[in-house]
Amino acid sequence: MCFSDDTLPDGFSVTKGNLISYVPYAMGRIKSLWGEDAEEFKPNRWLDENGIFRQESSFKFTAFQAGPRICLGKEFAYRQMKVFASVLLSAFSFKMADENKAVNYRTMLTLHIDGGLHLLASRRR
Ligand code: HEM
Repeated sequence: MCFSDDTLPDGFSVTKGNLISYVPYAMGRIKSLWGEDAEEFKPNRWLDENGIFRQESSFKFTAFQAGPRICLGKEFAYRQMKVFASVLLSAFSFKMADENKAVNYRTMLTLHIDGGLHLLASRRR
C-alpha cells in the first residue's frame, strides 16, 4: 500500500493509497527478465563462466522478496538446498519413473507438482 505519492525506479508513478502487488511465479518466467529461454528448466543459468554459483538480484528473483524485510532464512535455506542436493546427487542418480508422463503444477498456497514427481533413484558406483 503506498503511503505517499511516489515514482518507482522504472518511472511508473503511484499515488497515495494505491495497492501494488506482483506475482513471483510470473516474474520468474518473464522473457524480458530471463531471456527467450525463460520457461526452460536450466539450472546452469545460475552459474558464471567458471561454474560458480552467481546470485541474482533479490529484486529480480523474488522468491525470498527483497529489501529490508527480505527473508531472514534465505542463506540458511540456500545452504540446506545445496547440502541436500550435493549429498543426494553424489550418492544417487535420478530419472523420471515415467518419462512419458506430463509434469504439471498444482497451484496452491505453495506450488506443488500435481500427483507428485515420481523418480527412480539408483545408487552411484
Ligand atoms: C525456500 C525457503 C524459503 C522461502 C522461499 C522463504 C520466503 C520468504 C518470504 C517470501 C518472506 C517474506 C519477506 C517479506 O515480507 O518481504 C520470508 C520471511 C521470513 N523468512 Fe523465509 N523463506 C524460506 C526459508 C526460511 C527459513 C529456512 C527461515 C528460518 C530459518 C526463514 C525465516 C524467515 C523470517 C524470520 C522471515 C520474516 C522476516 C521479516 O519479516 O523481517 N525463511 N521468507
